[in-house]
Amino acid sequence: MSLTGIKPTGEPHLGNYIGAIRPALELTATYESIYFIADYHALTSIRDRAQFAAYTRSVAATWITLGLDPEQTTFYKQSDVPEIFELTWILSCVTGKGLMNRAHAYKAARDRNAESGAADLDAGVNMGLFNYPILMAVDILIMGSDVVPVGQDQVQHVEYAADIAGSFNHLFGSEYSLKIPTALIPAGTGARTMPGTDGRKMSKSYGNTIPLFAPPSRLRKLVRGIVSDSTPVEEPKDPDSSAAFQIYENFATPDDVKDMRVRLEQGGTGWGELKNALYETLEAWLTPLRARYDELVAPGSELDAILAAGAEKARDRARPVLAGARRAIGVDS
Ligand code: TRP
Repeated sequence: MSLTGIKPTGEPHLGNYIGAIRPALELTATYESIYFIADYHALTSIRDRAQFAAYTRSVAATWITLGLDPEQTTFYKQSDVPEIFELTWILSCVTGKGLMNRAHAYKAARDRNAESGAADLDAGVNMGLFNYPILMAVDILIMGSDVVPVGQDQVQHVEYAADIAGSFNHLFGSEYSLKIPTALIPAGTGARTMPGTDGRKMSKSYGNTIPLFAPPSRLRKLVRGIVSDSTPVEEPKDPDSSAAFQIYENFATPDDVKDMRVRLEQGGTGWGELKNALYETLEAWLTPLRARYDELVAPGSELDAILAAGAEKARDRARPVLAGARRAIGVDS
């Protein structure tokens, strides 16, 4: 079984789709798959109630719109599975603080404080951020996950989950043990970094993203605004130097990509024409998806029932794992 956690921290964009969402969804062909919205992970940084709710709903609606099948998979919100938080305490008690000190999100926060000359290297660090890897370990362990598809930046956390399960099994396991997970970097994850509108990697932190479900007028404006050089229309161009072309390659058919490449290399085709083609291609793909997304994201939509049913399935899986852990530590014997 494969488990994917999705932290709801922003408006999903084309780069998320190519680099993370699509490769994660392709795993359903190979594994029994569980996907969940890691909403309590986002609480380490979100302080705005409306935004917290909106991001969670938007991310859930996005994954379903893009092909997550809630019948074939298990899909839920972390905050709907209270068993996770009980096991988090239990596993906190078998986890060394030193291990958490070395976790990279925490270390990065301290490094930032050091750089800015703060007297207290822990300034601005809440216990949620510090304990984050334990909560993530429980997300993984309580479902009995075999593999956890993640990007390179999350591999350390999956290794921590394996370490923490190992400690628990060593200290308490005999009849009962937690399954040791492994990280999996799905084919295609980050393999090709797709540029954003300024030519750098498309990323929320650069503010250069093209959101998946922007209305057509905004989509058109963003595509028109992709950086390009000033080679005149009639001159030959290098398609691979163009951010718009690299985005086009991810969404157009292979024949259309080949055709566009030839036209740019020959000259006579301008960047504006390429951008029009890119816009048309994206719009054709997105029109039906946008409608579906809008339906799902609206308050009171079927999304509520989907997540409620998913939470039931998830809790059915989590309960015996928690019960086993409770017995193992002696609280229930
Ligand atoms: N930490 C992950 C991220 O920031 C999200 C996440 C939370 C997760 N729990 C998980 C991923 C469990 C995989 C498994 O992207």
